[in-house]
Amino acid sequence: MAGANKPSSFSFVYGLLLFCFNIQLPLPLSSSAAAAASSLHSGHGFTVELIHRDSPLSPFYDPSSTKFDRLTSAFRRSMSRAARLNSSSKWTDDDGLHGIQSQIFAANGEYLMNLSIGTPPFQMLGIADTGSDLTWLQCQPCSHCFPQVARLFAPNTSSTYTNLPCQSQLCQAFDGSICGSTAGSNCQYKVTYGDQSYSIGDLAAETFTLISTSGRPVQVPNMAFGCGHSNNGGFDKRADGIIGLGRGPLSIINQMSDLVDGKFSYCLVPLDTNSSVTSKINFGEAAVVSGSGVVSTPLIKSTVDPFYYLTLESISVGNKTITVPLRSSGISKAGGGNIIIDSGTTLTLLPGDFYRDLESELKQVIHGSSVSDPQGLFSLCYSKGSGFSVPAITVRFSGGDALELRQSSTFVENGDLLCFAMIPSDELAIFGNLSQMNFLIGYDLEKNLVSFKPTDCTEH
Ligand SMILES: *[C@@H]1O[C@H](CO)[C@@H](O)[C@H](O)[C@H]1NC(C)=O
Ligand SMILES: *[C@@H]1O[C@H](CO)[C@@H](O)[C@H](O)[C@H]1NC(C)=O
Ligand SMILES: *[C@@H]1O[C@H](CO)[C@@H](O)[C@H](O)[C@H]1NC(C)=O
Ligand SMILES: *[C@@H]1O[C@H](CO)[C@@H](O)[C@H](O)[C@H]1NC(C)=O
Ligand SMILES: *[C@@H]1O[C@H](CO)[C@@H](O)[C@H](O)[C@H]1NC(C)=O
Ligand SMILES: *[C@@H]1O[C@H](CO)[C@@H](O)[C@H](O)[C@H]1NC(C)=O
Repeated sequence: MAGANKPSSFSFVYGLLLFCFNIQLPLPLSSSAAAAASSLHSGHGFTVELIHRDSPLSPFYDPSSTKFDRLTSAFRRSMSRAARLNSSSKWTDDDGLHGIQSQIFAANGEYLMNLSIGTPPFQMLGIADTGSDLTWLQCQPCSHCFPQVARLFAPNTSSTYTNLPCQSQLCQAFDGSICGSTAGSNCQYKVTYGDQSYSIGDLAAETFTLISTSGRPVQVPNMAFGCGHSNNGGFDKRADGIIGLGRGPLSIINQMSDLVDGKFSYCLVPLDTNSSVTSKINFGEAAVVSGSGVVSTPLIKSTVDPFYYLTLESISVGNKTITVPLRSSGISKAGGGNIIIDSGTTLTLLPGDFYRDLESELKQVIHGSSVSDPQGLFSLCYSKGSGFSVPAITVRFSGGDALELRQSSTFVENGDLLCFAMIPSDELAIFGNLSQMNFLIGYDLEKNLVSFKPTDCTEH
């Protein structure tokens, strides 16, 4: 987590978490929160802004960096994120306890979310991460904390804070929880990331308050999260914590699932959009994706990690369809799933053998000669001035019709070059955010479906 210098923004990875309202919990609610909760109960749902890390609204914004710098770093982050997602080995606690690491990577997510925690509310800016399960932040007292700009959350100052006992369902469901043999003890947790970063602390419950785009606060009582008393590693001091939007039991999405019917959706605006226009994330009824042009595909649940897996069947270039080989490298442990849909990765990463077939088809169809990327990240680039035309590229997931990607999603500016926004990866296949832009993408965790609808996200 990084410290947020601005109180109150969280970055999400995928943003979803806000949903959690617990209708039945008799915790004290402020009147506005009660109103929010009641309208949610009547089935409305709500929408929250996702603040892109490079937007002037974000504490990560660097006014001296050029658009090219920002893009280049975003492309590079795709690779480091892929490496972190790939480091899937389970962790065994050397203290002899039975803790096991859940699959998480350190916070270089692309989106922040503004929320508050506790009573009275403590503002925080979190990194929204669809690749993480547990939401956590640095807490007082802190035996080892990384530097954070904002002050640390003090659980003893909140009237709604409680530690979760070892017997609690969430403690038992979480891979990263640690319980000694003493009866009645509280649940501890440890999460580690691919780069050796970690957070250790108390598994606790608190009231979370999200700010909807209508200005309405949305309060979610008893949200389980990690109150980290020993944290270390490559976290940014400008963010206060991580918001876990993954598929695991501790994910905010999962915790709010009943209250939002397991639904969230987001619509990511294109790269060249005026930075005053933000991407949005919707929960509950506001997240239903319907109407003409909707393409749905099964969401595959992995037994070993909290990622959202889909099954990519083929990609077409014009009329030519290239099918993903059944046993392609990069296929995950998820039964049937072969690609992670991730809003925190910019580029789309495809299994190497499949990618090579796709690239060779592109080279045949595109007139003009390709040039190599001086930065060595992209595999296929053309000079901007060469007047080449980009063929129609469509993606087909299992059970659905083909989705046509816009040209701005398939070829991106890289200095003087236009480069194909998909690259080979022999370990993990990831459907990145460029490929997702200008689709309203809905996740339905009850029906296990992901739905795509072509949408102008700047207006949605
Ligand atoms: C987060 O919300 C607070 C209060 O609602 C607001 O003052 C602050 O500017 C917001 N931060 C961002 C980054 O939007
Ligand atoms: C994807 O992430 C990059 C890198 O942070 C960001 O610049 C871009 O705006 C994101 N794309 C979309 C469609 O949100
Ligand atoms: C992914 O993990 C495997 C085995 O742990 C390793 O050999 C490989 O280099 C990793 N790939 C990336 C892209 O980090
Ligand atoms: C809360 O805990 C912090 C750190 O452990 C301590 O410094 C502070 O005095 C406590 N505040 C109250 C109101 O108990
Ligand atoms: C972005 O939008 C704002 C508000 O509408 C406007 O003032 C500004 O000029 C726009 N910036 C660009 C680069 O178009
Ligand atoms: C694609 O196929 C259709 C019908 O089979 C044909 O009319 C069209 O010319 C083909 N397009 C290309 C780019 O080959």
